[in-house]
Amino acid sequence: MTDIWQRFQLAGKVAIVTGASRGIGAAIAGGLARAGAAVVLSSRKQEAVDKVAAELQAEGLNVMAHAAHMGRMSEVEALAEAAIAHYGGVDILVNNAATNPVYGPIQQSDERAFDKIIDVNLKGPFMLCRAVYASMKARDGGSIINISSIGGLKPEPGIGLYSISKAGLISLTQVIAQDWGRDGIRANAICPGLIRTRFSAALWQNDAIVQRFLRHLPLGRLGEADDIVGLALFLASPASAYCTGGVFLADGGYMVA
Ligand SMILES: NC(=O)c1ccc[n+]([C@@H]2O[C@H](COP(=O)([O-])OP(=O)(O)OC[C@H]3O[C@@H](n4cnc5c(N)ncnc54)[C@H](OP(=O)(O)O)[C@@H]3O)[C@@H](O)[C@H]2O)c1
Repeated sequence: MTDIWQRFQLAGKVAIVTGASRGIGAAIAGGLARAGAAVVLSSRKQEAVDKVAAELQAEGLNVMAHAAHMGRMSEVEALAEAAIAHYGGVDILVNNAATNPVYGPIQQSDERAFDKIIDVNLKGPFMLCRAVYASMKARDGGSIINISSIGGLKPEPGIGLYSISKAGLISLTQVIAQDWGRDGIRANAICPGLIRTRFSAALWQNDAIVQRFLRHLPLGRLGEADDIVGLALFLASPASAYCTGGVFLADGGYMVA
């Protein structure tokens, strides 16, 4: 085997990361770029991804920014087209962007909320996978990483529709692993636990909820965005060449407690 560290190198690879303007997506985009990949950063707001891209470019990294709302399929397809036009193809896709506009028991959610959550968290990722398929296949394969959640494995109270969307994302990951494996395309899901980002601020800023989590956390602390980067880097790189259809926890041990 070649030097194991060589297998984590991403030089010559092109990655798209959605939800890359902050939080877990920004951390993963930085990690992939520092490992040598050219990275397309995306979120709804061009200025927001421009800012993160400029910070990475100032480090000498090869990145570009392209805004796309994951609930608008024409924008999702345009994102894939922009990446392919600029860098010549796509090898790595990280479906990280997500939304959760409602909290509470499921009967309080309506059709509009259901459609919005499923569009952004599940249909958009499916369409983006579909849009990069031909390019990945032509480049002898690729790696798709879908950022799901522990809620996709076991629903957390108050986030039912979100949990449904994240369970669907795990299933999408497994279906892609099955259907595209012979094209050399791998797909794996990461299920973070409670990570301190803007997305989850309503949880980690609530002391009662934090105490409940800490009681169930073998590692005894909440997660940070950087805690997800190593796993994403592993799954993006040839180091994980025999991993597909996997569901990887990054939850501080929450699910086994
Ligand atoms: N934080 C946690 O505890 C936790 C736990 C489990 C799973 N996750 C998952 O981790 C992923 C990242 O979350 P995070 O915690 O890093 O959240 P975050 O810090 O709030 O970042 C969310 C990112 O998604 C973008 N975004 C939001 N809506 C979008 C849309 N409709 N289309 C395109 N981009 C959109 C945001 O940028 P703009 O506002 O510029 O669009 C931002 O870049 C999500 O899939 C989330 O479900 C998080």
